[in-house]
Order: sequence, then structure tokens, then C-alpha cells
Amino acid sequence: MNCAPTFMPNIIVIGAQWGDEGKGKIVDLFTEEVDVVVRFQGGNNAGHTLVVDGRKTVLHLIPSGILHRGVKCIIGNGVVVDPEICLQEIDEIKAAGYLKNDRDLLISEHAHVILPYHKRIDVLREQRMGAGKIGTTGRGIGPTYEDKVARVGIRMGDLIRPELFAKRLREVLAEKNPYLEKILGGTPFGFDEIYESYVNYGKRLSCYVQDTSLYLQQVIKKKKILFEGAQGTSLDVDYGTYPFVTSSNTISGNACAGSGVGPTAIDGVIGVSKAYTTRVGSGPFPTELNDEVGERLRKQGAEFGATTGRPRRCGWLDLVVLRHAVRVNGLTGLVLTKLDVLSGLDRLKICTGYRWKGSILKEMPSSIEVLNECEPVYQEVKGWQEPLSGIRSFKKLPVATQKYIRKIELALGVKLVMVSVGPSRDENIVLKNIF
Ligand code: IMP
Repeated sequence: MNCAPTFMPNIIVIGAQWGDEGKGKIVDLFTEEVDVVVRFQGGNNAGHTLVVDGRKTVLHLIPSGILHRGVKCIIGNGVVVDPEICLQEIDEIKAAGYLKNDRDLLISEHAHVILPYHKRIDVLREQRMGAGKIGTTGRGIGPTYEDKVARVGIRMGDLIRPELFAKRLREVLAEKNPYLEKILGGTPFGFDEIYESYVNYGKRLSCYVQDTSLYLQQVIKKKKILFEGAQGTSLDVDYGTYPFVTSSNTISGNACAGSGVGPTAIDGVIGVSKAYTTRVGSGPFPTELNDEVGERLRKQGAEFGATTGRPRRCGWLDLVVLRHAVRVNGLTGLVLTKLDVLSGLDRLKICTGYRWKGSILKEMPSSIEVLNECEPVYQEVKGWQEPLSGIRSFKKLPVATQKYIRKIELALGVKLVMVSVGPSRDENIVLKNIF
């Protein structure tokens, strides 16, 4: 009798740049191989666009794995949940024929709730900051994480208990209203204004709410689990371009804290990077292109935010950003997306370092004052003219494309496991099966 346990790999997928790397599509694809998908941070600031059978679905909160029948999708404790958006998304995916069984969606009772005052504070603060604003998505993400750390947050477990919710809400409003009125010059909230609708959201969501860490512990030896990151490494609250970052740890280490599993459960970390770079919101972006090439990338790559519709800032691939991502996430593999967008350019540039005050920096500086003064050092390589979206094997790629890929691998010391050449599920070149 063979008593050896079956190997059940648990993989983390994170963004290696400033978000919008195409993680949604990659998670959706990898979900074919797994049983459980867990979101561990962020909230509905994320926007994951999936194209299945020609139909586009944009998910902001629910894990991208939801488009696969029978896969459990978990909103982990590290996520901040806007109950109204969550319900809207549930209704939409149900109407599209997904989530036939309510037991396939689990929401952590420890996850913090985004309430209307968080959104109002987010928007008013940005208005007050004027030109120095962060360029947040205005979804109340930062203020909700602030309350979590300040220990005044309301969690999903509180929301589904009406009496407890009422008590917590009263206490919090006593603090939030003077802040909204006196400091931010905004309108305060009446208790009933929030309570009436949110207690109902809680009732509707209560069938999904449970201790998801406990669930994960029960299945971790029997099922394959995918941990789905949102945003990207350079938006991480510790390792990103602070303060122009989001308010959570977006790096792989947070997959454990944000879902309630130990690091010993993780078998691999896959980073997702575009074949070029984009960023939405304010903050430094050394390889940004404010010229016709940047405009071309935006047009060809349909680079408009899935959450806010804002045009994304576009630029060349930055190996300093990616080397940093390899290090702080401990990447074991990389997926390169949107390679098809680069077709038609005669020459491509890859940033290999930053020139700063006469020296060359190979590592990401921690201070944005320094980063703002950095000039990218480029290596120029030959481009290719051929469209790539129909290609399914590495060998059939134009030689210049193959060289571009190998150059990235060599510079980062991480193997590419997949290249995406179009938005649809099948538009990929698989280089290694990570499962
Ligand atoms: P917040 O997460 O809404 O607080 O926004 C903080 C910063 O993160 C802003 O620059 C946003 O544009 C950026 N951001 C938040 N979520 C995403 C995302 O999913 N993709 C790209 N950028 C994001």
C-alpha cells in the first residue's frame, strides 16, 4: 500500500508592479487546477477583468476563481469588505450563471467592513490634499484599514449581529462625525442612515460569513489552494513607493496573515508582470512615457482602470521594480502578460538601473524623494512586428520576442512560467506547469 501523502501545492499569485498586471486572468486560469481561491488583502479598489467565451466580467472583491464551478472562493480576514458592493457582485455573477451554490463563497468573520463614513473620509481627504493627493480609488480602503489598526473597526462578525452592530456603530459615529464635520468640512452621518441598510446587508451576507481560517485548516492537506493578491508590490504599504501606496501589504508574506494559514503551508509564489509598466494614481514612475509611445501602449493595451476608468500611466519595463518584487515576495516563478501589446514597435527599452547623483542604483530606493530624482538607465533591444495573439508555443514566437523574454529571465534569476498574448482564457504560452 502506498501511504505517501499526495502533494497538494498551495500557490500565491501577486502583482509584481503597480497593480493591473493581469492577475485576474492568471488566477482564473490557474483555478482550473485548484479547489480553493482566497483573497487575502485589499478590497474593491481592485479590478480584475476576465474574458470568458468572449464575455467580459469585472470583479472587484470576489476572488477571480468564482467563474469556475465547484471552486470555493474565500474573502479572507485581510480583506476589507464593502457589503453593498459585495452583494451587487454576488447578484451579478449569479445572474450570469455562476455561484449556483451559496456554499462556494465564504467571507471571513474577521474581515473589516467598509462603511459609508470611510468612503466619505477617503474622498474628502483627497480633495483637501489637492495636487499632493494620493489618487486613491475613493472606495474607503485606507480609512477602513486605519480603523482596523486603531482597534475601532467593525468586522463582518459584528455586522451580522444586529445588536452588536448597533452598539459598535453608535460608538464609532461619536468619533467619526466630529472628524467629518470639523476637520474635513463634510456632512455627518445619522445613525439610522447607516444602520437601516447595513443591518440588511449583514442579514443577506450572513450565510457566507464564518471562520475561514478554520475552514482552510480543515482542507489544507486535501485541497489545492490559490492565494490571490490584489494591487501590486510597488503599492505595498511597507515596500511600495510610500506614501503613494495602498493601505495593505500586497506582498506574498501577507497571504498567510490575511487568510489565517501558516507560512509552512505555502509551496510557491508566482509574480505577475506586464511586458511593460503601468500605474494609476499619483506617485513616482521612473520609466513613464509621456510621448506617443506611451499613448500607443495605452491604446493598444486598453490601459484604463477597471475600477475607476482612469487612463493608466504607461512606460517601459522596469527591471529595478521587478528585481525588488522578486526579493520581497520570494518569487518562484513569473508570468509575463500583454506581450502582444508590444508588437509593431521597432525598438524596445528595458530599464536596468537608475542614475542618481552620478551613481547607478540597481535596487529600489526606499525614499520617494530619491526615486523622484532618478533617471532610468535603458538597454535598447530589437522589437518585432508580428502579432502574437495566435501563437501558443515559445518556439513559434519571433526571435526578437524570445530574446526579450530570455533577457528578463536572466536579469531577474526567475523562470517564466507563462506568457499571456491576449485577454482571452486560451491566449497563452505555457512554459511550465506549476501544479
Ligand atoms: P486606495 O487603494 O484606493 O487607497 O488607493 C491608493 C493607491 O493605490 C492609488 O494610487 C490607487 O490608484 C492605487 N490602487 C489601488 N488599487 C489598485 C488596483 O487594483 N490597481 C492599480 N492601482 C490600484
